[in-house]
Order: sequence, then structure tokens, then C-alpha cells
Amino acid sequence: GALAQQRQDLQNFQVIAHRGASGHAPEHTWHAYDKAVAMGADYLELDVHMSADGHLIAIHDTSLERTTDGQGPVKEHDLSELKTLDAGSWFNAAHPKHADDAYQNARLLTLDEVIERYGQDVRYYIETKSPEDYPKLQSALVSKLEAAGLVQAGSVVIQSFSQPSLQEVHGLNPDIPLVQLLWYSPGDDGSLEEWTGVTPAPAEITDADFQAIADYAVGVGPNYQYDGQTVIDESFIKQAHANDLLVHSYTINDQASMRQLLDWGVDGLFTNFPDRLEEVLADR
Ligand code: G3P
Ligand code: CA
Repeated sequence: GALAQQRQDLQNFQVIAHRGASGHAPEHTWHAYDKAVAMGADYLELDVHMSADGHLIAIHDTSLERTTDGQGPVKEHDLSELKTLDAGSWFNAAHPKHADDAYQNARLLTLDEVIERYGQDVRYYIETKSPEDYPKLQSALVSKLEAAGLVQAGSVVIQSFSQPSLQEVHGLNPDIPLVQLLWYSPGDDGSLEEWTGVTPAPAEITDADFQAIADYAVGVGPNYQYDGQTVIDESFIKQAHANDLLVHSYTINDQASMRQLLDWGVDGLFTNFPDRLEEVLADR
């Protein structure tokens, strides 16, 4: 079926540039994306929210404060207002080691702009953020990707922590490969209902839970660590594979962890430093 083919297409290891090469430059700006593409990443990871006037905006947080000089929720601003904000200077203050004057005044971007710039030079790994805030996000996103020819070209994965969001996308277009994001932290019982809650490490998940995901998704995207403590292990990856699911783990920035996960058979990694991951891969 369609899902088996999608899994087949993703058999090779995938380097996923988390918010672009966001360890080197301000996340979700041209600086971070250009660097990721130059470093040879397979995918640009984009978190998307929606502006008040319905544009899909590449930004991680629901609110503007952390990564821009604006204030309040993204959804309360029109695109024209969002385009006046400085989305780069915060990075120089937060990461003096990687600071660059060129980052000052970097602009927020729409998904349209990103797709227009890179076309088929890279693939896109898009996360539907806070879908409960944006009832139209899924349909707007799928229409856009179809119109750009990216679904047909196999150039896109859609990911979410929200199962309803992924199931809606699957209903709209079953040809889009989907990844169910998972979040494990101490106290979470690992059940389907408690994915975003708190559980004992390492993560426990039943075959039934994996099978429920395998009905609509090609894989799972679990966190690797919580507060420095590793929450997935080799058996988690093997169990996912036994249930026909790929494993793309986030967010891995040190090379020892990259090697560990590759040894365990992980299928892809989200990293803020695609250059470090490419180095590890070149060594193997
Ligand atoms: O999308 C994978 C990972 O990015 C999920 O966490 O908070 O960085 O979007 P977050
Ligand atoms: Ca993300």
C-alpha cells in the first residue's frame, strides 16, 4: 500500500536540519536555512504557525518574544506586521560564540517564501504547531504543498505531536508521509493518551500503541533525552521497526549521541548542527 511505499522511500538515513542549521544562525531565517542546505542536509525542518490573515509562518514558538523583538501570539498579527520584526538579533545575544552582525534584522519567513527559494534543492519536514489554535492549518498546508508539486515529488514529510492533526492530513492526502512526534519525560506512562505528559525512562510503548500509529504514519519522532537523561534505547528502536515504523529522533547536537543512535539503527536525526552529523556519517 501507500504507507509501505512511503517507508521504502525513507529507508536511507535522513539528516534533518532542525529549524535550519539553528546552532549556527538564528532559527527559521534565511541564514539558518541557507547554511543547512549548504551543509547537505536532506531535510529542512520547519515549525509552522498561522498569522491573523492566514499565512503559514515558519516559527517555533506560539508567541513572538523569544525569537523576535515583537510581542504576543503569532496568530494575533498580520503578515505585514510580522515582516517588520527583527528575528535575528536575539541569537547574537544568546549565542555570542556564533554571533554575526549579518543576523541583525533577519526577517520571519512564510512557508511560501521558503518553498520558492529552495524548490526541489532540499526536502521539507514540516511540523503543524498548536493545531487546536488554527483549524484551517492542515487544509491550507496540504493545498500549498500539492500546488507546489512537492507531494508528487516526494519532497515533504509532515510531523506533529497532535494525532488529530496528522489524521486530518492523512484524510486530505494519504500520499504525504507522516511522522508522529513523541515526548517522553519522567512520570509519563507512555500511553497514547499521555504522550505529551510525564513517564518513567526509558520510554515504554506497547505494540498496540505502535500499531495505532502505523495506521497513518511512516514513523515516530521521539525525544532522545530529557534533562540530560536518555529516554529511548535500542529496544525502543527495534520495537518500532518490528511494527513497521521508522524512528527519527530529536534533537541531537553532540557527536557521541549521534554515533550511539546510529549504532542502535535510528533512521534519521534532527540536529541544530547538520555539519556535525555529516562528519559522523562520513566516518562510518
Ligand atoms: O520536530 C521535532 C522537534 O523539533 C520537536 O520539538 O519543540 O523543537 O518543535 P520542537
Ligand atoms: Ca519541531
